[in-house]
Amino acid sequence: MTIKTIILAAGKGSRMKSKVPKVLHKLAGKPMLQWVVEAAKGLGSETIVVYGHGGEQVKESLPSFEISWVEQVEQLGTGHAVQQASGDITADDTVLILYGDVPLINQTTLQQMLSACDDKTMSLLTVELNDPTGYGRIVRQSTEVEKIVEQKDACAEELLISEVNTGILALKGALLTTCLAALKNDNAQQEYYLTDIIEMAVNAGVRIDTIQPANEFEVQGVNSTSQLNQLERYQQGLYAEFLMQQGVTLADAARFDLRGEVTELGTDIFIDCNVILAGKISLGSNVRIASNCVITNAVIEDNVSIKAHSVLDDCHIGAGSDVGPFARIRPGTKLGCDTKVGNFVEMKKTNLGDGSKVSHLSYIGDADIGKEVNIGAGTITCNYDGVNKYKTTIADGAFIGSDTQLVAPVSVGENATIAAGTTLTKDAPDGVLTLSRAKQMTLKNWKRSNKE
Ligand code: UD1
Ligand code: CA
Repeated sequence: MTIKTIILAAGKGSRMKSKVPKVLHKLAGKPMLQWVVEAAKGLGSETIVVYGHGGEQVKESLPSFEISWVEQVEQLGTGHAVQQASGDITADDTVLILYGDVPLINQTTLQQMLSACDDKTMSLLTVELNDPTGYGRIVRQSTEVEKIVEQKDACAEELLISEVNTGILALKGALLTTCLAALKNDNAQQEYYLTDIIEMAVNAGVRIDTIQPANEFEVQGVNSTSQLNQLERYQQGLYAEFLMQQGVTLADAARFDLRGEVTELGTDIFIDCNVILAGKISLGSNVRIASNCVITNAVIEDNVSIKAHSVLDDCHIGAGSDVGPFARIRPGTKLGCDTKVGNFVEMKKTNLGDGSKVSHLSYIGDADIGKEVNIGAGTITCNYDGVNKYKTTIADGAFIGSDTQLVAPVSVGENATIAAGTTLTKDAPDGVLTLSRAKQMTLKNWKRSNKE
C-alpha cells in the first residue's frame, strides 16, 4: 500500500498582511509547510504539495525534501486544488489530505486515520467547537455521517451543529479520483468543494469513520499572525515541558524558546530567562546558560557556563569552559577544554586550545591557538587585507600582551611573549620577547601652549 499525502498550500493568506507566502511563515523556526511535510514523511508517505501564491519561493523553501510540486494557477476551491494533484494518484493508493497552514497536526492522529481507511471506509477528522462559525458542519443521519455542509450553504438547523470539518481526511485513490471527476461548483461560493466528496462516498456505499484529534491545536489553521502566535506559544510550551521532563531547570518556561532541536541532553542543566536555542543543539551535564543568550547549532560540553548576552553560532565549546558575558562566537570556532572567552570578545573560525584565555575586548579570526595561551585585552588578528583572509598561528604557552595587532599571515612560537602594543608583522620566535614599539621619551623643556 502506497500512502500519498496531498498538502494544500495554494491559498494567498491575505490576512497575514505579509509579502511572504503564508505557508512560509515560521513556527518554532521552521516554515509551517515544513511541519506538515515532516508529518507526512514521518508516515512514510509520498508527498505532493499543491502550491499557487508565492510560486517559486514556496518550491525553493524546502530543498532537502523529496516533494512532487503541483501548481494551482487559479484558486477555485479545495476540491479544485486536489484535482490538480490527481494525476499523481493511482487506484490503490491511500490518500491523505493535509493543509500547509495547519502545521501542528500530529502523526499519531494521522496514523489512526490511515489504519481506519480501506475500500469501504473513508476517515474524516472532525472536532466539536463551542463556536462552529465559519466551518463546514458534519451532518449525520442518526449516527452515520451523511455529508458536510459549508457555513455559507447551511440552513438554520445545520448551523446549530457543533461538530465541524477540520478538512483533514484519508481515502482510497480509486474513490478520490471518481469523486473528483464529479465535483460541481453550484454552491454559494461557486467553488469546487472537496467536502462534497463525503456525500458522494456515502452514496457509493462507503462509510465515513470520524476521528477526533488529541487536542484542538493539532487542527488549528493559521490565517493571521495572531493565530500563528497562539500555535507558537503552544509549541514552545511543549518544548519547555519536554526539556523539564528530562530534568532541565528552566528559570521561566514561558521565556524559553527552541527553534530547532536539542539532540543531546546531560543532567543538571540550568537555563535562565530569555534564552533562544536554534538549529541543532547538544548540551552536556552541568551546563549553565545565563539570560539573553542566543545559541544556534552548537555543541556545548559538560560544565560549561555561558554568561549573559552571549551569541553563539555554529561552534563547539569544550568542557569546563567559560564564555561571556557579551561574547560573540561565530561559525567555525572550536574552544578546547577549560578555556575562557570573556566580555566583548568576537571569535570566528578559530581553534582555541585547552586552558587558553581571551578574556577581554578582542577580535580573533582565522586563528589556530595552542594550549595555555593568554591573549591580552584588545588583541586583534588582522586577518583580512580587503581581498583575502589569512591565518594567525599561536603555539602553546604563548603570552600576547594587551593591544597587540597580529598582522596575518603570522605565527607566534611556543612560550613566546609579545609585548603590549606590538604590531606583529613577522613571525615571533619561541621562548623570547618580541616587541615593536616606538621608544618612550620624555621632553623636559616642553611646555603646553597658553591661550592668547
Ligand atoms: C475548509 C472546508 C471546511 C472546513 C475548513 C476547516 C471546504 C470546501 N471547506 O473551508 O469544511 O471546516 O476548511 O478550516 O473544503 N486552498 C487551496 N486552493 C484553493 C482553496 C483552498 O490550496 O483553491 C487551501 C487554502 O490555502 C487553505 C485550505 O485549502 O490552506 C482551506 O481553504 P479555505 O479557503 O480556508 O477553506 P475554508 O473555507 O476555511
Ligand atoms: Ca480556512
